[in-house]
Amino acid sequence: MTDLINPSILITGATGSVGLELAKQLAAKEIPFSALVRSLDKAEALKHLKGVKLIVGDFNDQQSILNALKGIENVFLLSNSSDEAEHLQCNFVDAAVKSGVKHIVKLSQFAAELNSPVRFLRYHAVVEEKIKSTGLQYSFLRPNLFMQGLLGFADAIKYQQQFFATAGDAKISLVDVRDIAAIAVERLITRNKESEIFNITGPEAISHNKIAEVLSKVLQKQINYVNVADQEMLSALLHFGFPEWQAEGLIEDYAHYARGEAAIVTDTVKDVTGKLPRKFSEFVEDYKSYFE
Ligand SMILES: NC(=O)c1ccc[n+]([C@@H]2O[C@H](COP(=O)([O-])OP(=O)(O)OC[C@H]3O[C@@H](n4cnc5c(N)ncnc54)[C@H](OP(=O)(O)O)[C@@H]3O)[C@@H](O)[C@H]2O)c1
Repeated sequence: MTDLINPSILITGATGSVGLELAKQLAAKEIPFSALVRSLDKAEALKHLKGVKLIVGDFNDQQSILNALKGIENVFLLSNSSDEAEHLQCNFVDAAVKSGVKHIVKLSQFAAELNSPVRFLRYHAVVEEKIKSTGLQYSFLRPNLFMQGLLGFADAIKYQQQFFATAGDAKISLVDVRDIAAIAVERLITRNKESEIFNITGPEAISHNKIAEVLSKVLQKQINYVNVADQEMLSALLHFGFPEWQAEGLIEDYAHYARGEAAIVTDTVKDVTGKLPRKFSEFVEDYKSYFE
């Protein structure tokens, strides 16, 4: 049995892709929450949301995290993937235990595993293990590739009618971050939760060529997917300023996709939220203005 409450909630990563969507959905439901931000200047999109309390803090500053966690029972834990993410998230978990947090909703990744060849999947698994070891309630959200990741290619799609990756012909059950956020909302506001792991996918597994086909159809112009070699992709990522650790991690991530390891489709979005996950074509319709 579960019952809905107005719990004390802190969300981290609130200025990012999933976190901002989560904040918007909490506000739309009139559920009050605190949002940790590194700088108020970067929090324009959060400032005017109903029920939000902005708290300035940084995972690097343990005292600021302890301040943010005062009186909090439910936290949403997310940071970008960097060589520091494992260490910073583990420190955050220590602070959560100290502060009397009851439940951690951690944004992890599909196929997180300690022995994975993909560094992102290894560090997420380490943080998951750390959370498990505390005995706190947990919800591990393990989403597959984000549809919104394609926004990083918006200019290439707009001006060159193409986008690049190293995914080959592999099918991937990519998922809309709005559906991931909707699951986070449910887990943050529902009492009597059992600890659980959620493998979160979209409704279909599609190849990058299919992604190009859908983009072409919705945007009504030919968009091509260009499959490139790992080294070419790595050079491009470094050129665009990605730190080496992260760029190499993305190559590992895409090798995992290319091996067909991210093609499973789950019913998690429907089971948790009661709504069908968004199709890739719906994502493109909704974000059309970014690509044309
Ligand atoms: N992209 C995908 O396809 C995919 C798929 C599955 C899982 N994931 C996982 O999703 C996560 C990324 O989610 P996202 O795309 O929503 O992230 P994002 O847009 O990159 O946002 C990262 C957030 O973390 C905050 N942050 C970074 N360093 C911080 C620090 N030291 N202290 C406090 N906050 C800090 C950022 O704040 P600022 O605004 O101040 O920088 C920002 O709000 C990663 O863990 C990744 O492994 C991604």
